[in-house]
This record gives sequence, structure tokens and C-alpha cells, in this order.
Amino acid sequence: MTKPTVDAKGKRRRIRFTAFRLVKLFSAFALLLSACGPHMPEEHDVTAGGHHPSSHGKKTANAVSCTDLKEKPQAGEPVKTFHLTARAGSLQLDSGKTVEDAWMFYGPDPQPELRVQEGDRVIVHVKNENIREGVTIHWHGVILPCSQDGVAGVTQDAIRPGETFTYEWIARHAGTYWYHSHQQSSLQARKGLIGKLVVEPKKPTFAYDKDVTVLLQELDDEQLANLANRLHVHADPGETVRLRVINSRNSTERLTVSGAPVKVVSIDGNDLMNPPPVEKARIPVGSGQRLDLLVNMPAQGAVKITGGEKKESVVLGRGPEPPASDGNRWPELDLTRYAASRSPLPAPKSFDQTHTLELDWSFPHRFTINGKVMHEIPPIVVREGEWIRLRIVAKGGAPHPMHLHGHRFAVLSKNGAPLPHPLVMDTVNVNQDESYEIAFLADNPGLWMIHCHNLTHAYLGMSMMINYEGVTTPHRIGTKSGNHPD
Ligand code: C2O
Ligand code: CU
Repeated sequence: MTKPTVDAKGKRRRIRFTAFRLVKLFSAFALLLSACGPHMPEEHDVTAGGHHPSSHGKKTANAVSCTDLKEKPQAGEPVKTFHLTARAGSLQLDSGKTVEDAWMFYGPDPQPELRVQEGDRVIVHVKNENIREGVTIHWHGVILPCSQDGVAGVTQDAIRPGETFTYEWIARHAGTYWYHSHQQSSLQARKGLIGKLVVEPKKPTFAYDKDVTVLLQELDDEQLANLANRLHVHADPGETVRLRVINSRNSTERLTVSGAPVKVVSIDGNDLMNPPPVEKARIPVGSGQRLDLLVNMPAQGAVKITGGEKKESVVLGRGPEPPASDGNRWPELDLTRYAASRSPLPAPKSFDQTHTLELDWSFPHRFTINGKVMHEIPPIVVREGEWIRLRIVAKGGAPHPMHLHGHRFAVLSKNGAPLPHPLVMDTVNVNQDESYEIAFLADNPGLWMIHCHNLTHAYLGMSMMINYEGVTTPHRIGTKSGNHPD
């Protein structure tokens, strides 16, 4: 038998891979060792060290606190109220088994799916029963005022055991979202402090009979993970199912579908125009992203949607399950060339600011933006009404699913090539050596994070701020306050 030869490139890749695995291992240790990220100072003000390019460092007169940026109550909109309790403790599964240390939002079920209608005023009372380090809730993808964004040390203090915090915002955009704690998010999301959030449209832009949500999650506990990761949905032949897939994991999931073609009808809560059917392709869902699939049930048999490493599957309908596909060899669907968003952002005449964010990692455990980690990175300071363009380049340690709070952005180009059509997202998955240009209109004054949604990367530094000039916060990150958003 001859040994397979390894060319130089393969070797390099292997070294890189091994190094990357080491980094991963190291990150796991780092997570164990401390409650906060690399070299986090005792106290950090996220507005420090930034100024608008044309202000020459002068302080602006009319400062406003993020905590005062709220939505004024309007008369007449329907109100939906929820009560969530964060609790660490044993959780009895339907199977009769008990999970000892589950961290969940209960409402009253664990990880309740919150469903509201477009236009609703949403009020969520969050009580922390016993999560020692505190919790928050960030409404991932929802456009809301700064005070409701749920980032510990930025928009509020973490909610301590025994305390309550009330979130209130208007569900302006229909779509699939999710929520998670933004206190120690890399730890707490993995422990289970996450959930589904659906804003139903007043008038759907396409028809469907069933509406189902799946949350792909990577839970610390094996039993919980198994529970979360298999789903059987009743659907009759000829029915149309809208399957909302949320990826809360730290890795890209690649979905394969057998039994019927599907259409991707929505990305990050933004509906697509005339999406073509997809067959024999792997559909990538980056960390933090949401994809809605539309499936027309065939006359016979079931439809099976499988996650990348066969970790989970969703079976729609009855009858024989389609045979396992050889999906691992299917080509990957390029969502940037698939279909246009139905409601694109307006096209800017020009950009007021352009910044490059170079994403990389360096030994031993720094995930960096332009060579720096979190609190070392000067915030980008913007003014309301400006168009901001970001060039995001993944140099190492990718994929880096970059998520911007408080805004939706247009994806302008990928690897230097303009997109064939407008596309709107809130999380763009930047693979190794890829580059994207994205742009957003600064139309939501506040203090907003942009970070990698591989939450371990964010924890290890890949996180920064986009601040509006003149917006301040009384809250601080660091060991003194105990606020650790990542
Ligand atoms: Cu799901 Cu800061 O994000
Ligand atoms: Cu990353």
C-alpha cells in the first residue's frame, strides 16, 4: 500500500487546521479559567476612544443616554406581554430523564417560542431567579431603540438574581428572529439561555399552510441537545410548510433536503423575490442567521431536512422517509446570487464613511479586528443620516459570521464582485479569505455592537462598537460592574 502523498498546500492546510484546533482547545480552557475575555480591564466605557471623523475629537454638546432612547407609546397598537424567568436547575425532559444543570428562560415552558404580529407592542418581563452572573435578553435581528437592545454593560446592567427587567419594543418588521442572553453570551447561549422569536406578517408575501420554527442549538448537555434536534411535523400531501430555521450554534450549518425541492423564501427576516427551487444543494446557515424554507409536500412520502453533520433532522409529513442523501457532496448554494430581497434598502448616492474590518486570530487566543480585541478597538462613530460602508475581510480563523445590532444592512459585493441584486441581512457569514462590502443607513441612534457570532470568537475579542455621536451610557463593561457582554 502506498501512503497518500501530501502536497505542500495540503500540508499547510493541515498545519493550519491543527493550529486552529489548538486554538479552539485553548479557547475552551480560557472560557473555563475566567469569566471575562482577554485582558478585559476592570472598567470599560464603550464610548471611549472614538470620535466622528469630522469632529476632530471635540466633545459634542447635546449628549443623550442610550437608556433614554425608547419608543414612545402610541395609542392603539395591540400589546403582547410575556413573562420569562431565567433559571439554572434540573429540567425534567418528556422522556422522563432529568438534566441537572440546565440554564433556561422559562415562560412557563423552557425556551418558549415568542410569537407576535407585525405592529404589536411587545412587553417582556424578565426575572432572573438564580443565574449567578446575571442575564440579559438581546433580541437578535430586531430593529429597536438602544435602551432595549439587552447588551450588558452597554444598554443595561446584567439582571442579577432576584431582579427583574422589562423590555418593551414594537415589532416593526415581520420575520424570523431569536433571543439570547448578552451577558457572558458565549457561555450562556451554550447553556440554553436562548429562544425563538417570530414576528408574523400582517399580510404574508407568499402562502403557506403550516408555520414551523427550528432552533439549531449546541447545548452543553447531550440529552438536551438530542431533545432539541429532532422534530417531526405533521403535514398532508399538497400542503405548504414554512420552516423557519434559526442557527444559534457557533458553526455554519449546511442543510440538505430530500423528498422535495425547497425554496429559500427569507433570509434574516427579509423576504426574497421569486426564489427559485433548490435541489441537490447544501444550504448554508451561518451562526446567528435565519433562513425560512418553503416546502410543497409531495403527493407521497415525507420530506427530510438534515443538518450538516447529520446532527439533527426535521421530517415533514408521514409515510416512508426519503433515503439518506449523499448531500455532503452536493454543491453549496450561494445565497448572495440566489434571489433579491423584496424590500431592499434605499440606494445611497455616496458613502459618508468607509471602514475596513480585517478579521484574524493570533496566538494564543486573540480573535481580532484590525489586530485588536474588543476594548482596544476604537469605536466607529457615525451621525444620523449617514451611509456607512464596511469592507469585511476574513484573514484567519474564519468563518466569521458578523452581526450588526440595531440595523439591517445591504450586502454590496462579495470578493470584489458586486451582487447581481439587492440583498438585506443582519448577519453576514464571511468564510476564510473572503471579503464582503456591506452598507447601512445610520437611522437608529444608539450604541451598537458589531461582532462575530461565533460567540467564542466574540468572547476572545472579535467584537466592536458602532456608536452615534453624542450618545452615552451610564453602564460599564468589566470586572467592577460584572457586566461581560461576550
Ligand atoms: Cu445575537 Cu450581539 O448578538
Ligand atoms: Cu469569528
